[in-house]
Amino acid sequence: MTEPNIGSSFIPSLYKPSSLLPIARHREALLYVIETFPITIVVGQTGSGKTTQIPQFLDQAGWCAEGKVVAITQPRRVAATTVAARVAEEMRCNLGQEVGYSIRFEDMTSSATRIKFLTDGLLLREALVDPLLSRYSVIMVDEAHERSLSSDILLGLLKKIMKKRPELRIVVSSATLDAENFLRFFVGDSVAENGDGSGELGGNIGRIISLEGRMYPVDIHYLEEPTEDYVERAVKTVFDIHAKEPEGDILVFLTGREEIDATIEIITDRVGSSNSKGPSLLPLPLYAGLSTDQQMYVFEPAPEDTRKVIIATNIAEASVTIDGIAYVIDCGFVKLRAYNLTTGIETLTAVPVSKASATQRAGRAGRTKPGKCYRLYTEQNYDDLEESTVPEIQRSNLAPVILQLKALGIDNIARFDYLTSPPAELVIRALELLYSLGALDDYAKLTKPLGTRMAELAVEPMVGKVLLSAATFDCLSEILSIAAMTSLQGAVWFSHEGEKKAQESARRKFAAEEGDHLTLLNVYLAFITKGKKEAKWCRDNYLNFKSMSKAVSIRNQLKRYLERFGMSVDESLGRDSIILRAGGVGKAEKIRRCLTSAFFAHAARMQSDGSFRTVDGGTVLYAHPSSLLFNRKADWVIFHEIMETGNKTFIRDITKIEKAWLTEYAPEYYQVIQK
Ligand code: CDP
Ligand code: MG
Repeated sequence: MTEPNIGSSFIPSLYKPSSLLPIARHREALLYVIETFPITIVVGQTGSGKTTQIPQFLDQAGWCAEGKVVAITQPRRVAATTVAARVAEEMRCNLGQEVGYSIRFEDMTSSATRIKFLTDGLLLREALVDPLLSRYSVIMVDEAHERSLSSDILLGLLKKIMKKRPELRIVVSSATLDAENFLRFFVGDSVAENGDGSGELGGNIGRIISLEGRMYPVDIHYLEEPTEDYVERAVKTVFDIHAKEPEGDILVFLTGREEIDATIEIITDRVGSSNSKGPSLLPLPLYAGLSTDQQMYVFEPAPEDTRKVIIATNIAEASVTIDGIAYVIDCGFVKLRAYNLTTGIETLTAVPVSKASATQRAGRAGRTKPGKCYRLYTEQNYDDLEESTVPEIQRSNLAPVILQLKALGIDNIARFDYLTSPPAELVIRALELLYSLGALDDYAKLTKPLGTRMAELAVEPMVGKVLLSAATFDCLSEILSIAAMTSLQGAVWFSHEGEKKAQESARRKFAAEEGDHLTLLNVYLAFITKGKKEAKWCRDNYLNFKSMSKAVSIRNQLKRYLERFGMSVDESLGRDSIILRAGGVGKAEKIRRCLTSAFFAHAARMQSDGSFRTVDGGTVLYAHPSSLLFNRKADWVIFHEIMETGNKTFIRDITKIEKAWLTEYAPEYYQVIQK
């Protein structure tokens, strides 16, 4: 078991008794329906108590007797951890005991756990080991309205399992009114006959329960003219509200971490330079990947005479509830996964929200009293929005789920029971990638052992491949460290304000000419030899001690997986980063070749202006400022990750490779490479 990500300390000590939540009045009805029918669809406003109360009702009603467990899935890691902490607090137990959570690389459960929060992706993975998910008496698929890729697939899988386990109870919870869709998915058109010819959808299989959560009116304000810069506009609106409106906290929806951090900086600056005597403003970020302490403040009541301004990504739209919000500012955009069929690259791109999303965001202002929502776009813009967000399954890289479905024995991907079918092109592209990675054979069957092992590893297919092929490149120990480091997603370095220069020179100590992966390896090796027990060493080197410790833990977990496959990891090699830099050319090249054999789909070439182009030449990419190859010369490279900020597409964790390696390791994928 790893260290808990969050203590329960951040839970406000004063909270509304759960008996006052809208769901309390539905307790008996809920338990009756769950007892009587295999499927229960619960619809209710965010904040009505679905996530935190239903598991407790089930526990009290005996669904956790005899070692059975109630599972609640979440599309987001942050939601799984914060909600578990909250429920543990309400049940007055230690997190990880009766109430626990399980997310990738972090298992906070024990044999005592009766209520388990986990990501939808992780529950899918559990099905590989326990195909009928037999340890669970009830599985609640929470936030189903989000239509995340994994929860969609999970619903399809549960529909299969249901036939073999009639005693299993499935609860699908949704914050929007698409309940009938979900019920129809499970029951088809079954109708219960009432004798008089009328009938109820669901037959003897399922029912819908609506929690008519109370909502106060929210006043919607639009812009007269569209804005060029919604960040600036959001800041202005925050200060306008603060100057003119009565008390109540502000929730601002922006698209991503960098934007949020920048906005907080602007607000902090302006608060500092104004010498008003009134109540102060306290800007706080909320996005996935935030440190524990930072998360804590968001949920705590603001200090006296202070207005909280929470600047959040879409997380705050439905999956976490923050009390006390009276004003919402909605930039009108959201970052969504989008898979580009031509380049074969998946990006996170900011796109306009849907009407459903905008409504949900506005609703955050009316939970406890009437509120106001400021949309940073015109009413005309709103009218032009799509009704609802396209489900993830229709716009993502499907390679990971296809790998999983195959491993679950579902060979005919086209015939799987999807809530919404994926477009054929996405399926084909995913099959191509898996084939080129060596996970599928000519008949689209999983290869053994590579394909089956890739499915079993709790990582993306490309990362799985790099780990599983490292031994043949004679660099397994190094690749393990690199995989652990890249999974930190950029959280390796600590930045202290105003110390950019010192930070740069600290980083240069670890720099490897070949690029970021080898640099990360140097950092890791230095950490385990010198810095492991010393937070100070990390501070001096501008490294994030917590992240580095997490890398060590992740590496151990990955190593255990590989050892379970019978692979042995020789740790005597590569202990010393010096070997890599001086005369270690052989090793460095092996590592780069190994990386290419897995990340060939993420290849790019540097242009004379320093930007990169994808292999097909169609997309312009920029080295992220955190990359070693930012402002440095290179030719062909592979990269780990891609991200969009504003209108620029950045790549992160980049390593130089030889063009010939692409066709050497992925001859089917790159039949012709342009000059
Ligand atoms: O799942 P749903 O959106 O229906 O509601 P919930 O997450 O179960 O939240 C029920 C209540 O618990 C809300 O009124 C929140 O204010 C409170 N809560 C909280 O204060 N802190 C949390 N971390 C989670 C919930
Ligand atoms: Mg919820």
